Amino acid sequence: MATFKLIGRVGLLKISSPPVNALGLAVRKGIVDGIAQAEKAGAKALVLAGDGVTFPAGADIAEFATGGHRTQPTLGEVIERLDKASMPTVAAMHGTALGGGLEVALACHWRVMSKAAKCGLPEVHLGLLPGAGGTQRLPRLIGCAPAIKIMTSGAPLGAAEAAKLGLADEVVAAVDGEGVAEAAVGFAEALADGVDPSRVVSARPLEVEGGVEAFFGAAREGARKAAKGELAPLLIVDAVRAAAEAPSFEAGLSRESELFAQLAAGPEARALQHVFFAERQISKVVGVDAPPRPIESAAVIGAGTMGGGIAMCFANKGIPVTLVDKSPEALETRIGGIRAAYEANVAKGKLSEDKLGARMRCISTATSLDDPACSTADLYVEAVFERLELKKAIFKELDAIAKPGALLCTNTSTLDIDKIASATSRPQDVCGTHFFSPANIMPLLENVRGSASSGETLATVMAMGKKLGKKAVLAGNCFGFIGNRMIEGYCRESYFLLEEGCVPRDVDAPVRALGLAMGPLQMQDLAGIDIGYNIRKDQPDLYGPADRYPLLADRIAEAGRLGQKTKAGWYDYAAGRNPVDDPWVADFIEKFSAEQGVTRRAISAEEVLDRCMLPMVNEGFKCLEEGIAQRESDIDIVFLYGYGFPRRLGGPMHWARHIREGGLPKLAADLQRYGAEHPNGTYWTPSALLLEEAAVAAEAEAAPEPAAATA
Ligand code: 3HC
Repeated sequence: MATFKLIGRVGLLKISSPPVNALGLAVRKGIVDGIAQAEKAGAKALVLAGDGVTFPAGADIAEFATGGHRTQPTLGEVIERLDKASMPTVAAMHGTALGGGLEVALACHWRVMSKAAKCGLPEVHLGLLPGAGGTQRLPRLIGCAPAIKIMTSGAPLGAAEAAKLGLADEVVAAVDGEGVAEAAVGFAEALADGVDPSRVVSARPLEVEGGVEAFFGAAREGARKAAKGELAPLLIVDAVRAAAEAPSFEAGLSRESELFAQLAAGPEARALQHVFFAERQISKVVGVDAPPRPIESAAVIGAGTMGGGIAMCFANKGIPVTLVDKSPEALETRIGGIRAAYEANVAKGKLSEDKLGARMRCISTATSLDDPACSTADLYVEAVFERLELKKAIFKELDAIAKPGALLCTNTSTLDIDKIASATSRPQDVCGTHFFSPANIMPLLENVRGSASSGETLATVMAMGKKLGKKAVLAGNCFGFIGNRMIEGYCRESYFLLEEGCVPRDVDAPVRALGLAMGPLQMQDLAGIDIGYNIRKDQPDLYGPADRYPLLADRIAEAGRLGQKTKAGWYDYAAGRNPVDDPWVADFIEKFSAEQGVTRRAISAEEVLDRCMLPMVNEGFKCLEEGIAQRESDIDIVFLYGYGFPRRLGGPMHWARHIREGGLPKLAADLQRYGAEHPNGTYWTPSALLLEEAAVAAEAEAAPEPAAATA
């Protein structure tokens, strides 16, 4: 886990724990042993380097769940050993020196960094703070303000910036671990013998510009504003404050440990660590090990907002794409819109003129699939109106012109992939690629598996998603796939709540208070109220006899209030994009209730939240039961990246299991109670899997603590 060798008079300690040299127990022991070996060998200096692709990328995150990070030697103890080393120490940073990895480097006397390396303290993304001295050493090395910025943003720094801040002492051209280690050994050889006390970061003074009270008051307020309800950024500021105020470095460290322990034991850290692993699970497709086909060109059919956004996704990654629409005017308008979107990014300094040019050159247009440019594409994404017959006609055409092995994908959000595939002679090459609007911005991609989609097809769209920079989740074929299926009951209950006594704000406020970016009605105003309306009209068999029809939603669409695009929906948008309560809507709803013979009543925020969220979670369990979702954590990713669910809650399934009071047992009981009181749809029928999981959780809760844990 760490190997020591002497090169001349310099000791080289190489940390080896693939894939990212995380600082698990074996590595921690290896470092302590290596320091002892260096001392025993009389090394004049010690270089710490990472084997393989990177310097350690942090503590071993998997250990936090088991408490393994507390097994000695802890990372704090390893770092203290380095801090007190009797010879100069040099960190040779390549790859990604992150979290505990950078904290190890901060405890070294010198830092040599590859020009291609990144370093940073991303613990905040895991709901933690740098808990191995990072909050105490980084401000001493580079000052409080930049240190707080690095730690509260969690964003990595390149070598040039690290050098400018004084974090890296030397930037070297080598990129690979061998080369950087060699350069660091050379650097160490040139050092004078003995430790220069001014290089010991923990011994440096810490001055706060403008005074402690004013500086940290402003820093905490800034962190609070940016924190989206998360606690870790605030405690990072508090830990740095302790670095400034504590009577000794050790006292500051001890405060850091307390704050770290507080975060580590809290729900936010658990949720964010769940998200970390969930993000890395999504690309793993159970039972598929076929290699992906190369995607070097694409065609997008339909030059609407969605088609334009999808074309931009390809162009952004340098993949030539043909935008196809039979209307030259539609193509012209869309190309103008795409250019305008890129130009807006240039104006904001987010894109260079050169890149704008390169991206626009990636996009060509055609008014027919017969155009020769269309027949050579490796992959097609159909993005026309949500009408089955139209989509089938396009797939028939695609079948006739596409080369063998090309992927035929549909961006449908609700239609049956198998029915679409049936229009072709190659259903094995057909699947869904459900982008979320605006496609060039939203990070989620639901790839949908048809019953005949081949392993190669699935491997290719999953790889494509990654290449486009999306979080690609594999879903099964059903109405709405994962996200829109789960959101169905959530939206329908929102209409019924209006009918029973709420005004729009009463429905949206509790959902926003939970931390979602917007409530269900605001979401519909943003997406367009006509979307759901058209789906209901086009798919008359959508609801069964057990489903209450959302007539109120039809009525508001028929009143021409389609949401933000008509400046009026469930709210008024005459003055801009902020939803404003509209007395007309309140009156409209009241009249509707009267017409339906419903006596309106006051509905608590708790009931509103439960009636929106519980059907969603229930449907999530049904998705698992039916194999529509591969794993619970995939569902969470869909909601984090497609629907603005707050990361600190880990996603709806994590929230249901671990954060909502009473966990699954109470949720299952509440679901059944609401379902009996408001039998509005099959989304209230409890999922067998949910009931099973609730029973398991109840049993685990009732079981006595294991003896070892109570001893
Ligand atoms: N601990 C445990 N496993 C880790 C890990 C870590 N710190 N970092 C990455 N891994 C695992 C991933 O889960 C993944 O495993 P899998 O192949 O089984 O799914 C594998 O390493 C490769 O990771 P990625 O797929 O993310 O590989 P990339 O090349 O895309 O990215 C990376 C590499 C930039 C290092 C990225 O993995 C990353 O950002 N890791 C987390 C870094 C981090 O948050 N460090 C701080 C940890 S907390 C800490 O140090 C606390 C301390 O202050 C006390």
